[in-house]
Amino acid sequence: MLKNDLILRAARGEKTERTPVWLMRQAGRILPEYRAVRNSLSGFKELVETPELAAEVTIQPVDLLGVDAAIIFSDILVIPEAMGLTYEMVEKKGPHFPNTVKEASDIDALKVADPADLGYVYEAIKITKKELDSSVPLIGFAGAPWTIFSYMIEGGGSKTFSQARRLLYSEPAMADRLLDMITESTIGYLKQQVQAGADMLQIFDSWAGVLPAEHYSRYSLKYISKICDAITEVPITVFAKGAWWALEEMKDMNCRTVGLDWNMDPKEAREILPNKTLQGNLDPCALYGSNELIKEETKKMLAAFGDHPHIANLGHGVYPDTDPEKVKYFIQSVKELSAH
Ligand code: CP3
Repeated sequence: MLKNDLILRAARGEKTERTPVWLMRQAGRILPEYRAVRNSLSGFKELVETPELAAEVTIQPVDLLGVDAAIIFSDILVIPEAMGLTYEMVEKKGPHFPNTVKEASDIDALKVADPADLGYVYEAIKITKKELDSSVPLIGFAGAPWTIFSYMIEGGGSKTFSQARRLLYSEPAMADRLLDMITESTIGYLKQQVQAGADMLQIFDSWAGVLPAEHYSRYSLKYISKICDAITEVPITVFAKGAWWALEEMKDMNCRTVGLDWNMDPKEAREILPNKTLQGNLDPCALYGSNELIKEETKKMLAAFGDHPHIANLGHGVYPDTDPEKVKYFIQSVKELSAH
């Protein structure tokens, strides 16, 4: 039994005594305590692959910021790595894949990830659960197949994602084959996260917004749906950044919560998704403002979600140069303003 299960109850659509709150990308970057751990190591990957340390930085925001959930410290890119495509995390630049998928034979060289290859993540989850001592729920996560596919084709971030998008037009069968492999890998991986103790799951479709609506349905939601259908043990949140047009189709998906980015209108989403809990969606840039501004914007956000089941969050991950004091103020504001 968890001492604070507000997020789980909100995810189930139940009324809660106040709105629960956590932040995407809360573990890391913004906290000096995170950077201290990180700087003592060879790099990001060592942190991800050392369960005791991953657990430590997972718990930091719970203690330091007062959020209502922890999210396991890892990265969405562990899946392509387990499939056979390794990544490097380049300081101040982000992920880079030395090898990418260019043609069918590159897919032949990959495998469906063996969930056992990601044992360090499950170990980190087990340690975190123990150290959290039933205080708050632990969120597990993975990237959506389309977002992972984009990294495997592009080799990193991109302005246009034109290589990944091109493949959907020129080689649809090849695209489906790779998306199928990623989906299967992700299902096994998420099931193991639940087995290890994850109380809920989030699927990050960070590059959803670059696809036309028809392709989004055909090449992304189809595969996210397969994941949601396969995992019935815990509530799932789907966050498709930039894909406002897809909310309609998410109504019938087997997820409990839909994440909104800051461009999406909570009032519209409430009408489109009466059966889902909504998560979001303060503009992360609001946290650069004064405390007065943060409180005002938080109040507006809470009002826009009204009495709809809601998990407060930003509309995307917290930016690295955000003052942790402002994050704390946001969290405190949600707690105060939403208390009935
Ligand atoms: O949310 C959390 O606090 C848990 C940990 C987490 C990380 N990455 C750690 C991380 C989560 C949930 C992710 C997800 C992730 N990773 C996404 C989806 C969410 C989103 O923001 O859209 C994406 C697209 C990635 C890929 C990735 N990893 C990028 C583009 C980068 C570099 C830029 C950046 O965001 O910092 C990373 C590196 C990364 N992943 C860091 C952290 C804490 C910073 C690395 C460092 O310590 O130097």
